[in-house]
Amino acid sequence: MILTLFGPPGSGKGTQAGALCRRYGLIHVATGDVLRAEIRTGSETGKRASELMSRGEFVPDDLVLGIVRDRIDAALDCGKGVLLDGYPRNPDQVADLDSLLVGRGRRLDMALVLEIDDAKLISRLTGRRICGECNRVYNVNTNPPSEPGVCDDCGGRLEQRADDREEAIATRLEEYHGQTRPVLAVLEARDAVVRIDADRPIDAVRRDLARAVAEARA
Ligand code: AP5
Repeated sequence: MILTLFGPPGSGKGTQAGALCRRYGLIHVATGDVLRAEIRTGSETGKRASELMSRGEFVPDDLVLGIVRDRIDAALDCGKGVLLDGYPRNPDQVADLDSLLVGRGRRLDMALVLEIDDAKLISRLTGRRICGECNRVYNVNTNPPSEPGVCDDCGGRLEQRADDREEAIATRLEEYHGQTRPVLAVLEARDAVVRIDADRPIDAVRRDLARAVAEARA
């Protein structure tokens, strides 16, 4: 199964992806996580991505397509499904993904859409902290670690993302509404969209996501 977890910045994609992947044996392909890992290597690609991402702008489509292609191929080679997170992010990326999957006899089976008003997202994003080792997501207000600044799972140091500043958040929300939301109309025309109210406790959202995937597999 090839799924995408879709929603605005801060809607809970990263928070929900891990449990969903463990439960259904999916490989998590989060373009933002892969790009941040590339930035940490100090490569030229990472430097280019870092400039754009810290302003809240998208990186070029061909760069993300390469990331997605390699990881989808690796997952399919070992007989696994894929949970995309942060991709596709504009209608051209839908076309890129379609071509990639058709060539492998697959298609995008479903978009799981996390819905929440923009007004709720600012405090989620400014309070977010992420483990630099395992990428587990926390929030200093609503979902803190047991010991401040330290990951409960692996003991890694918690970090704040460069794009979780208010100016960059405003740009990211503009990009989401201008470029990413139109993807939904494309996928809705294929009857491949399940909408989930993301303005509820993390466990409630998790249950609905799991139910949607279970129904799609039935
Ligand atoms: P990316 O990393 O994909 O960021 P994003 O889409 O902006 O989404 P976020 O990671 O900010 O939010 P999330 O939905 O995962 O929320 P989270 O679970 O962390 O992309 C970053 C950048 O990379 C882009 O801006 C772009 O530059 C580039 N990029 C990536 N993909 C690209 C592509 N395809 N094309 C071009 N460029 C690309 O939760 C947020 C906070 O809320 C956390 O603190 C969490 O604890 C809290 N929280 C979560 N759920 C709940 C809940 N139910 N109740 C209360 N708090 C909650």
